Amino acid sequence: MKPLITMKPGSSGSKAKYWIEEHAKYVATTTHDPEILPLVIERGEGVWIYDVDGNKYLDFTSSISVCNFGYPTHPEIKKAIIEQLDRIAHAAGTDFYNPYQVMLAKKLASISPGDFPKKVFFSNSGTEANEAAVKLVRQATGRKFIIAFYGGFHGRTMGSLALTASKSVHKKGVFPWMPGVIHVPYPNPYRNPWHIDGYENPGELVNRVLEFIEEYVFDKLIPPEEVAAVISEPIQGEGGYVVPPRVFFTELKKLIDKYGVLFIDDEVQMGIGRTGKLFAIEHFNVAPEVITLAKALGGGAIPIGATIFRSELDFKQPGIHSNTFGGHALACIAALKTIEVAESLLHRVVELEKIFIEKLSPLREKYEKVGDVRGIGLAWGVEFVVDKKSKRPDPTTRNKVVKTALENGLVLLPCGKSSVRLIPPLIITEEEVKIGLEIFEKSIREVSS
Ligand SMILES: Cc1ncc(COP(=O)(O)O)c(C=O)c1O
Repeated sequence: MKPLITMKPGSSGSKAKYWIEEHAKYVATTTHDPEILPLVIERGEGVWIYDVDGNKYLDFTSSISVCNFGYPTHPEIKKAIIEQLDRIAHAAGTDFYNPYQVMLAKKLASISPGDFPKKVFFSNSGTEANEAAVKLVRQATGRKFIIAFYGGFHGRTMGSLALTASKSVHKKGVFPWMPGVIHVPYPNPYRNPWHIDGYENPGELVNRVLEFIEEYVFDKLIPPEEVAAVISEPIQGEGGYVVPPRVFFTELKKLIDKYGVLFIDDEVQMGIGRTGKLFAIEHFNVAPEVITLAKALGGGAIPIGATIFRSELDFKQPGIHSNTFGGHALACIAALKTIEVAESLLHRVVELEKIFIEKLSPLREKYEKVGDVRGIGLAWGVEFVVDKKSKRPDPTTRNKVVKTALENGLVLLPCGKSSVRLIPPLIITEEEVKIGLEIFEKSIREVSS
């Protein structure tokens, strides 16, 4: 294969170096790490990204599961957006009516799991979609508490931040956040408090989590009739691309249904086709009362968030919750077309999953530092450990792999403490998947030697 990289990214004298330095001077500190990912993007084409120095990279990040339909965006989504721009973009969707948000709400209600009437609250991001979910379940039930999972990520604004428990740095120096959240262990098959091998014994792992909720929350901490909802990602994203046992959500739902506790399914990172279904929770056969979406819903072109919920939970009077950009006409049209495009790609995701299974599974046997490989569809995580026996997380090796992959022309993003995610756009070809996975293994090999 011809090398993709002509100049080492971020190397001295390059344009990348200039922009990284200027960025540090003028743009707020967020999550960049120029040591690992000194990537300054100028443009994208399909599944390929070009940096300011003209280097070409294969993208296995979809820009954090947003650009699921390629760069700059899918041609059909682009066309729909341009046509809508000639009609109207912003139409004060929470004060005036517009047909576009009604069309999108109807579509989301019809495609989401659950055979019951639904409504939708529109916003601009994942964290806002979750903030709306929290307000919704509290005012609908009159209950105050929310159960969330260790390893879960739901955003960084003060309500969602309280739900998030994937990295303590998110909470550094900013207390107090929203009160009323209780965290419980997640059924991570590879790494859980009971040291159960959840791949060998999924039922046992799930039982332990449910017993924990019953005994340590409902019995000892907060009566279940004061718990409004449980929130979970169907597959933990920021926490490491962790797939729970397939029986987990049906069993969880059985338990919480007994007490009238609602289930909020955070599909912000996994939704809109990433796992081969429009909603990742469809792999688990449950119908959540509330589902949140954002990221890919805008086709990688327009920001939009959505909170889909059972109609009977709706806000009891105007003014309890609203915003400026909700129901943005342009965003709604982009999302409608995005859903259509995503539906047409689902079968491809299922096909491409086979290549991931075939190429990634052997890595666990081949490399001492590859502790776990897990995923569904085009949502894969690989966890690096110091050694297989101790299972101690090895962020240093992980970071070296991400950096080496970038130098080899493949863009990856870290997740969890020592994992990487492999999440290419859904339009990727078989050939491109193979190129990416080859570079990934080559990078592990280089770091291992
Ligand atoms: C599962 C999940 N929920 C919520 C969020 C927050 O979304 P946003 O960054 O758009 O606020 C994220 C972001 O990564 C996420 O992965």
